[in-house]
Amino acid sequence: MEVHRERGQGYYIFPKLEGEISNYMNFKGKRKLVWSINNYLGLANHPEVRKADAEAAAQFGMAYPMGARAMSGQTAYHEQLEKELADFAQKEAAYLLNFGYQGMVSIIETLVDRHDVIVYDSEAHACIIDGMRLHFGKRFVYPHNDMANLEKQLQRAARIVQGTGGGILVITEGVYGMAGDLGNLKDIVELKKKYQFRLLVDDAHGFGTMGRTGQGTGEEFGVQDGVDIYFATFAKAMAGIGGFVASSREVVSHLMYNMRSQIFAKSLPMPMVIGAMKRLELLKTHPELRENLWKIANALQSGLRERGFNLGRTQSCVTPVFLPGGIQQASWITWDLRENYDIFCSIVIYPVVPRDVIMLRIIPTAIHTLENVDYTINAFTEIRKKLDAGAYPGGFAEIPV
Ligand SMILES: Cc1ncc(COP(=O)(O)O)c(C=O)c1O
Repeated sequence: MEVHRERGQGYYIFPKLEGEISNYMNFKGKRKLVWSINNYLGLANHPEVRKADAEAAAQFGMAYPMGARAMSGQTAYHEQLEKELADFAQKEAAYLLNFGYQGMVSIIETLVDRHDVIVYDSEAHACIIDGMRLHFGKRFVYPHNDMANLEKQLQRAARIVQGTGGGILVITEGVYGMAGDLGNLKDIVELKKKYQFRLLVDDAHGFGTMGRTGQGTGEEFGVQDGVDIYFATFAKAMAGIGGFVASSREVVSHLMYNMRSQIFAKSLPMPMVIGAMKRLELLKTHPELRENLWKIANALQSGLRERGFNLGRTQSCVTPVFLPGGIQQASWITWDLRENYDIFCSIVIYPVVPRDVIMLRIIPTAIHTLENVDYTINAFTEIRKKLDAGAYPGGFAEIPV
C-alpha cells in the first residue's frame, strides 16, 4: 500500500491538473472529459464571473482588507454580501466564513458549551466531526437518517439537559456529498414539535442545486423556516472559496463575537467577496443554469440505471456508481478510464466505502453535454464488462501509473 501511494502520487493521488478546466481539462498533456470538479452551475468560467473576479483583483489587489473582520477587515462589500446571502437563505442575518471546513468546525465549537448535547447523523462530513471534537459536553450519534433512532437520542439528550440546563443541537447535512442522498429535513423539523432543539444544516452540496430557486435543501423540503442555522460553502455551486452561515440576528451576533476561526483570522479578500456577489446574482437570475445541471444529472442517472448500474440512494446531482472490487481494481479502472477513454473521474475507496466496494463518484455540471453523458455511460458499460471478466488483476506492483 505504501509503495502504491508513492508510485501513484501525481496520478491517483494529488493528480496535477493543467490548463483551463471546464467539462474538459488537460491531464498529463492530453485532453480529458472531467467529472470531478466542484462547479455545479458552471460559474467558474462564466464570462461575467471571470470579469468580476479580475476587476476586483485589479481594483483592490488580493490582500485587501488586511486584518480580521473585528479589527481591520470589515468593508461595505462584506456587509452587502452578507445581507444578500441572508435574504436568499430566508434568515435574518448571515456571516461570512473564510473556508467552509474551518467555518463549520468553529460554528459548532461556538454554539455549544459543556452543558449542551449534540445529536448528529452518523454520516456527517469531517468538518462536523472535527467541530464536535472541540465540544466538552455529550454527543449522541444516530444511524444515517434513522428517524426512530434520532428520536431515542433526543430523549436521552433531553434527560441530560434537564439536569445541566443546556440545550440540544441537532446536526445534519442537506445533501450527503458522497452518496448523494438527502438529510431527512422534513422529519427532523417535524420532531421539533415534540422536542426542544436547534437544527444546524450543512448544505454544502444543496446550496444552488436544490430547491425551486436554488436556495437549497431546506427549500426543497419546504422547511427552511425550521432550519435554525443554515451553512453553505462557496466551493461547490458558487465555484469560489469561502462560505457563510445564516440564522437569527441573535445567533449570528453570537457567532460574530465568539467564532475563533473568524476573530483570529484575516477577513475574506475583496475579489472573493465581490466575486461571490456576482456568482450569487447569476445563481438567482439564471435558473437555466440549474435546469441544465439537472438535465445532465437526470440523463446520467437514468442512463446508468437503465444499464443496470447501482447508484445507491442518490436523490441529488451527486452520482455515485458502485462496483465490486478493492483498491487494486479501483486503481486499474481509474487508469483505464483516463488512458483509454480520456475520462477523468474520482474514485472513492475504503474507509469511505466498505473494503470490497469501489465508488466512482461523478459530479455533473451545467456545462456538461448530453454527448458527454452518452459517451460516459458507454465507457462505464465497457469498464464493467472488463471488471466482470477479471481484466483488472490484483497486486499493487502491476497497477500502471
Ligand atoms: C458537506 C461539506 N461540508 C463542508 C465542506 C467544506 O467546504 P470548503 O471546501 O469550503 O472548506 C465540504 C466540502 O468538501 C462538504 O462537502
